[in-house]
Amino acid sequence: MYNVALIKFKNISSECGHLIPIEGKIDIPYEIKRIFYIYGVPKDKKRGNHSHRSLYEILICLKGSLKVKVQNGREEEVYVLNNEYEGLMIGPWIWNEMFDYSDDCVLLVLCSDKYDESEYLRDYDVFLKEVNEIYKENKLC
Ligand code: TYD
Repeated sequence: MYNVALIKFKNISSECGHLIPIEGKIDIPYEIKRIFYIYGVPKDKKRGNHSHRSLYEILICLKGSLKVKVQNGREEEVYVLNNEYEGLMIGPWIWNEMFDYSDDCVLLVLCSDKYDESEYLRDYDVFLKEVNEIYKENKLC
């Protein structure tokens, strides 16, 4: 799906454990301008339910597991995130929903930009309308 990719990070392992370095524009396609992390999500709760107009983010499950559904109004995919060495990159015009968090889940998110509520799409119908306009202009494939 456009604007969705699973990235496998370089893992420097030794008898002393593992180290995963992530440098902007080297290990991921953009400079990191913000991080946030999520934990303590009850099993029956969902997060996300939005899309972005410009933001790229990479979701890394540092502990436990969760599922992420991504969709663009035409197709959908569900990813299980349950390891520290992979990140799910989600770019603009992808509606995402995060659910089935394990009790111990810690989710780290690396963002391409500062927090800006105005670039969020939180209404699914508005998202579909805008994404369909962009399809018509052949800007997404
Ligand atoms: P939201 O993006 O809706 O979280 P989720 O998609 O995980 O459910 O954000 C929840 C609240 O936190 C909302 O009031 C905005 C605020 N927030 C910030 O202040 N800074 C941030 O970097 C993020 C991601 C959210």
